[in-house]
Amino acid sequence: MNQLHIVGIGGSTRRGSSTEVVTRGILAKTAELGCTTEMFAGPELALPPYEPGAEHSPSSARLVDAFRKADAVVIGSPGYHGSVSGLVKNALDYTEELREDDRTYFDGLPVGCIATAFGWQGAVSTLSTLRQITHALRGWPTPLGIALNTSDRSLFEAGEVADPAVLNSMMSMAEQLVFFARSREVQQTC
Ligand SMILES: Cc1cc2nc3c(=O)[nH]c(=O)nc-3n(C[C@H](O)[C@H](O)[C@H](O)COP(=O)(O)O)c2cc1C
Repeated sequence: MNQLHIVGIGGSTRRGSSTEVVTRGILAKTAELGCTTEMFAGPELALPPYEPGAEHSPSSARLVDAFRKADAVVIGSPGYHGSVSGLVKNALDYTEELREDDRTYFDGLPVGCIATAFGWQGAVSTLSTLRQITHALRGWPTPLGIALNTSDRSLFEAGEVADPAVLNSMMSMAEQLVFFARSREVQQTC
């Protein structure tokens, strides 16, 4: 079996943002399960506004290349005014470059979705939007999505997730990503 490659995007331009921490944490758990990982966060998400047909910047070329190589994707977004942040949405718009690939967009890929917001309403609506975007990109949202209300200050400690229930959810999401990606691999060889 090939080693799976998991690509994460998430957070704001602020290094160490809560969505970045959770997204990175899930990638770390997939690495524990034997996968290679690649993360786009903070300044790496400050990409030019997506424009169809425009020449790529080095950073957007790297992102598109990573999307092409991904066996699974993890997307983390803060809830901005009830939805996905513009920064994360712009990064996802670059999947348009995969529209005419043999594997269109995220066709058949498992996608873990994480949303954080300063209240439940924004966290849940943002998670729901991420799952809808995943469907639009022909991906398969993992059964478990993660919505976090960051007004609860006990979730993080020293820049890491500290809440045991959230850590459990992160592990479950990592396992679901790997399980699905492996099942897809087996199906392709049948
Ligand atoms: C522009 C902006 C809009 C926001 N809108 C909402 C919102 O509609 N609902 C909410 O609960 N929190 C909202 N927040 C708070 C963030 O979603 C919350 O602090 C989130 O956890 C930040 O994630 P980060 O640490 O990854 O940047 C907003 C924050 C910003 C900066």
